[in-house]
Parts: sequence; C-alpha cells; structure tokens
Amino acid sequence: MEILKNYNLKNKNTLGLNARTKYYAEPASVEQLKLLLSDDIYRYVPKMVIGAGSNILFKSDFDGLIIFPAIKDIKILREDADFIYLRAGAGVVWDNLVEFAVDRGWGGMENLSSIPGCTGAAPVQNIGAYGAEAKDIIFLVEFLQYDGLVENKLSSGECGFGYRDSIFKRELKGKGVITYVTFRLSKRPSINAGYEDVRQALNDVNQPTISQVRSVISSIRSRKLPDPAVVGNVGSFFKNPVVHKTVALHLKELYQDLKLFPAGEDTYKLPAAWLIDKCGFKGTRTGNVGVHANQALVLLAYEGATGEELINLSETIIKTVKERFNVDIEPEVNIC
Ligand code: EPU
Repeated sequence: MEILKNYNLKNKNTLGLNARTKYYAEPASVEQLKLLLSDDIYRYVPKMVIGAGSNILFKSDFDGLIIFPAIKDIKILREDADFIYLRAGAGVVWDNLVEFAVDRGWGGMENLSSIPGCTGAAPVQNIGAYGAEAKDIIFLVEFLQYDGLVENKLSSGECGFGYRDSIFKRELKGKGVITYVTFRLSKRPSINAGYEDVRQALNDVNQPTISQVRSVISSIRSRKLPDPAVVGNVGSFFKNPVVHKTVALHLKELYQDLKLFPAGEDTYKLPAAWLIDKCGFKGTRTGNVGVHANQALVLLAYEGATGEELINLSETIIKTVKERFNVDIEPEVNIC
C-alpha cells in the first residue's frame, strides 16, 4: 500500500477545494488498515477518514494521515425467508450498492438512490432522502478502533441514530474507522412513495416496483441537485432545523406556503431550503461561491472557491435566517 506525502485533496472532495494532507493512504482490507495503523509513524499523528469526500469542507491543510478505506467487497452474509443480510465494504460506492440490491429485487435502499458517497459514510450521518433513512436498513456496523486496533461490531441500536446523526459523529468521532456495514433488505419489498415529489412522479404507475422508485428518485435528484463534476457542492449544506411546535405553528400562521414535517412528539422539522429561499439567497453568487438556483439548501463552489469563502457565505445565511425568522440553522457538512 502506497502512502502519499503532502498530497493534494482537490480531487478527493466534491467541493473541489485545494487542501493538502501530510499523509494519505487507501488501505484495501482490514489487514492493510491494521498494518498502517500499527506503524509508529502513523500511530500518533492526527487521523481523518474520508469516503468520496461528498460531505466535507476543508478549511485548511491537514497535518496528519487521511485514510480512505478502499474495502470494496460485497457479500451475502445470510438469508431467510424474508430478508437478505448484505455486507458491504466501506469503500463501495453507495449508489453501486443500491443498484446491486435493486437489480436483485431486494428492497429498502431504493429511496436512497443516487446519493453521492461511499457505503462507510451511510451510518455516519444516517443518510436520508424521500422518506427513508439508512438506519431503517442498517443491521450491523463494523468499526476498527485506533486504540488497541480492536474490531467492534455495533448493532443498529448501538449506533445512536438520529436525523443526520449517529454515535460516529459524537462519542466515536476520530476514534476509528468503519470497515463494513451489513444491511437487512427485504425479499418482499413494500413501496415507500409517501414523499410528495415521489408520489406525484408515480401517479400514473399502477403498483410501482422498487426499480421504478429508484429511477424516479434518480431523476428528481438530477433535476434538483447539481452534479459535483460540473460545479462543486456537497448536496445539502445545512440540516433542516427541528423546532418546538409553538415556533412551527406560529411561523405557519404567518406563512401559509411553509411546509411543516412532524418530527417527534412536540417538534417539527422546517425546510431550511424554504427559509433560505425566502431570504432571497436562491440563485445568487458572491465571488466564487453561491446558492443553487433549483435548491436553496445547496451551496455552490465555483472554480477557484476557497473554504473560507464558503464559510463566510454560510455564516451570512445563518445570520439572515436568524434575523428574519428567529430560527437557528446549522451546517450538515463536516467542516475540517
Ligand atoms: N423548498 C423551498 N425552496 C427550495 C427548495 C425547497 O422552499 O429551493 C421547500 C419546499 O417547500 C419543499 C421543501 O422545502 O417541499 C423540502 O424540499 P426538498 O424536498 O427538496 O427536501 P429538503 O428538505 O430540502 C432533504 C434532504 C435531502 C434529500 C431531500 C429529499 C436534508 C438536510 N436534506 O432536503 O438530502 O434529498 O430532503 O428527501 O435533510 C443531502 O443531505 O445532501 C440531501 C440532498
């Protein structure tokens, strides 16, 4: 395994930002990863794990080791009459895994079609879209801990999943590497077409299949979200804020076009895109950064953009939303 030194990460983050790391490695197996981490040079330096770099904003250079776990095998662990237990390496491209499952008629991942990134990132921010979340199908997460190189297995319940949240963003942050994720997929899939955009697109289809759901969702995403190969972005830059119902209902009284999404007993999720849109940011550009014209939750990094410019724009947006609606929004992207 090659260890690259003073490596430029421009092609390893979908914002296309220039940043360098002291060391960079792509271990292709748990054994290679252990070998790397037991080397004295790398054992004591700061470490960061990246997948496809589709949810990372590099603010500056990294004075340590960046690891891309290039573990790419997919295997059926076991199956019973109802379920398939599919184990995939952290480095498997997420959408290839979704395609693999949908092609075989195994349900549960189809609503998460076309999300950029690698499988190892799915549990970290509990990726979610169109009424589904990774937590609904994650069965087990394998995690190699830096300390003592212990291999841990976390059941779904132990992962502490929440909206765009998990134990890997909190207690286990910076403590090790996710190596494999096992998913429990249904052999008799039921269709989850409750999300408004999906329901509308499938309106004329009688008894849609998971493959049709996948294709409808892929086309909604490509219509709304910019392709990082064309302009740098990380999908949603902010999380949707969860607020108490008194706040949500008060805003709804003032703005009838605001959609509220129930999230728990006394709370609602507000669409951050709507809040940002109302503040007039949608489709605007400042220097080398801007706000996408089709989805106000997506910030754009044009050629030459810096992490600092993006952070400045995001701070302006956060401040303006706070002043106008008295609601706090926060970045979803990992700022490093
Ligand atoms: N809206 C606006 N202006 C806009 C866009 C949306 O007012 O420019 C309003 C509309 O009322 C719309 C509502 O916001 O009904 C919600 O918009 P959308 O369906 O596009 O979803 P979202 O809440 O903005 C979330 C996820 C996306 C995911 C979609 C679909 C987060 C942070 N984002 O976006 O995930 O694809 O739902 O389920 O939860 C990502 O995380 O990178 C991502 C793209």
